[in-house]
Amino acid sequence: MKILVLGSGAGGGFPQWNCNCRQCAGQRVGEVPARARTQSSVAVSADGSAWVLLNASPDIGQQLREQAQLHPRHGLRDTPIKAVILMDAQIDHVTGLLGLREGPCIDIYATPCVFEDLTSAFPVISVLEHYCGTRWHMLGVAGSAHSATFTVEGFASLRFTAVAIPGKAPPYSPHRGEQTTGDNIALLIEDLDDGRRLFYSPGLASVGESELQWMNGADCLLVDGTFWAEDEMLQAGLGRKTASDMGHLPQMGDAARAGMVDVMRGSGARRKVLIHINNSNPILDETSAQRRVLDGHGIEVAYDGMEITL
Ligand code: MLT
Ligand code: MN
Ligand code: ZN
Repeated sequence: MKILVLGSGAGGGFPQWNCNCRQCAGQRVGEVPARARTQSSVAVSADGSAWVLLNASPDIGQQLREQAQLHPRHGLRDTPIKAVILMDAQIDHVTGLLGLREGPCIDIYATPCVFEDLTSAFPVISVLEHYCGTRWHMLGVAGSAHSATFTVEGFASLRFTAVAIPGKAPPYSPHRGEQTTGDNIALLIEDLDDGRRLFYSPGLASVGESELQWMNGADCLLVDGTFWAEDEMLQAGLGRKTASDMGHLPQMGDAARAGMVDVMRGSGARRKVLIHINNSNPILDETSAQRRVLDGHGIEVAYDGMEITL
């Protein structure tokens, strides 16, 4: 299985267009050693020819232009992107669907909740019916069904499992205040030819027994790297929301709760990678003390263009 990181940043990307914080301003002038990052999306393939997008970022135009493996190959108009799987209905994960409107009808795999948000409060999918059109593939994660195994047409050697995880619906969603099963999913992808497994979860609010069980046995964890600390945005004067308010488990734990670093340290995965990194997170600075902590535990920080072969 091949995994191509198209965008490794959280909403806003890095540096964020309107942000003058130490990291964003420092990155612009070359004083903070950190790579620029577009908003969250990855592509997965069994053979490098056909690809599935996991989330469609508002930066999709730039991302596809920069990835030769995703350029058109045959005929006058073409794309190796055969489907899009959505982890949630957040702006940074779905707006890129609009950027695919010049292409063929889009095969979208998502939960009932996500289809509902994207045809009502934020009707991106309804709008697409006036352009390329969409084909819906409903993932059975709703109500008491907490996971669903499925296949994606054209990817016979990959087995996908959508898993309901703790998180937040988008701020615009009618269920922002009260999580509904299917608002947020993680994906477990298994390559049936060699048994290798990826666990992908760019937004994960907490890791309990059930999440640990799904992560267990994965060869690669590609998980929520949004915030280092629970109150990072407040400390930097950048906002009033905590990591928990936004549905993200910070990397650093406290007395009450293990952080993502603790979770990853305890995992037997060969590759442990953080993705969806917010512009406030000190791990963006390659010389930071926090980055050294990750290095010490063999935890990687995803970057745009990163390729992982399992
Ligand atoms: C989030 O995951 O909380 C988002 O990155 C927020 C956003 O897209 O504005
Ligand atoms: Mn996000
Ligand atoms: Zn900033």
